[in-house]
Formats: sequence, C-alpha cells, structure tokens
Amino acid sequence: MSFVILPLSDLLESSSEDLVQGRISRFSCERSPELEDYLHNRAIMMEKKGMSRTYLAIDRDTNDILGFFSLGMKCMRVPDNTPISKTMRKRMNIDDETGVAQSFLLGQLARSDCSKTGFGAILIDEAINRLIQANRIVGCRLVRLDCSDDVVDYYEGKGFKFINKNSQANLNQMVIMI
Ligand SMILES: CC(C)(COP(=O)(O)OP(=O)(O)OC[C@H]1O[C@@H](n2cnc3c(N)ncnc32)[C@H](O)[C@@H]1OP(=O)(O)O)[C@@H](O)C(=O)NCCC(=O)NCCS
Repeated sequence: MSFVILPLSDLLESSSEDLVQGRISRFSCERSPELEDYLHNRAIMMEKKGMSRTYLAIDRDTNDILGFFSLGMKCMRVPDNTPISKTMRKRMNIDDETGVAQSFLLGQLARSDCSKTGFGAILIDEAINRLIQANRIVGCRLVRLDCSDDVVDYYEGKGFKFINKNSQANLNQMVIMI
C-alpha cells in the first residue's frame, strides 16, 4: 500500500476549508465511531486553535484517507504510588515538587475501514517518528496516550507502558519513551 502522510494544516493552507471538510468527511472507522467523529467534527477546529496537529495518511493511488493521527502536548501527573520503577520515574523527568512530567500526546489514532490490518502499527511508527523530530528541537522524551480498556493490550504490544487509570473518564494513561 503506497501512501503519503499529509499534515492537515498543509491541506487547509492549499485548499478551501469546505473542500478539506468534504474530504475528511469521507473517512470511516466502524471500530471507533468516536475517532471517526473526531476527524469529521473536531480536527479542523483543533488545528485552527493550534491545540494539536493532525496528520492524514493518503493512498497515493485512490486518494482515500487510510488513517490519521493527532499530536499535541499534555503534561501528566504521576502520583507517588504509581507502580513504576525508580529508573522509569527518573527517565520521565517527573518534577519532584509537583509530581508532573512534561509529555507529548498521541491524542488520536485510527486506521480507516478501507485500510488493511497492520496499518495502525504503521501509523504509530509515523507518529513516533514525528515526535522524535520534535524531541530533537524542543526536548521531552515522554509520549503519552489515553485509551479505552479494549486497546490496552494492543498498545502494550507496541511498547507502551500502562501508568494509571482515570476512572472518571474511564481511560488508561499509557506512555512510551523516545
Ligand atoms: C487500534 C488500531 C489502530 C490497530 O490497528 P492495526 O495495528 O492495523 O491492527 P488491527 O486493526 O488489525 O487491530 C489489532 C487488534 O486490536 C483489536 N482492536 C483494534 N481496535 C479496537 C477497538 N477499538 N476495540 C477493541 N478491539 C480493537 C482488533 O480487533 C485486533 O484484534 P485481533 O488481532 O484479535 O483481530 C486500529 O484497529 C484502529 O484504528 N482502531 C479503531 C481506533 C482505535 O481504537 N484507536 C485506538 C484508540 S487511541
């Protein structure tokens, strides 16, 4: 599958918002209506506010959107009783006084119904590669994501470590070091 990763901000600069909206509205993800809704209804607003950056994987032959991910920043509180090793705690650069670590956020990530199994893992690599570039520019080696119970095992298989559960939002905080 031959694809290119396009930043949503580039598309918004080169085409009208209506055209971009029409294009992203064709993205479908049956496994996660929430993520489909995010791309359809929130990604452009988040981009315009500068709160995150969304990247689209576009099929070179069909022009279909095969998947997307959104990157941003979100610091993370790591309570003292979090079951992680001292070494990990140190590598995360957690502030001694506040218990907060600066972190990149892999905010959203989904492959479309028209992509093949395994394309999600390719998207994760593409996202991490961009965060490695960001790390070279501004520092910060922690990447965080918040996910539902369904995909905790999946992300553990990709090297992420479970840190905490936000029971209010019912989301699992997971991290990987870059
Ligand atoms: C998670 C995802 C990126 C993985 O993509 P991938 O590496 O190409 O792998 P697959 O899509 O084949 O999924 C891998 C496994 O996770 C399971 N899985 C994926 N998304 C799931 C979800 N939202 N709920 C439950 N199980 C899910 C699949 O059933 C599959 O299990 P199997 O190997 O037993 O068949 C992709 O399935 C996806 O886009 N899911 C919907 C969006 C999502 O849940 N994103 C993660 C939250 S941030």
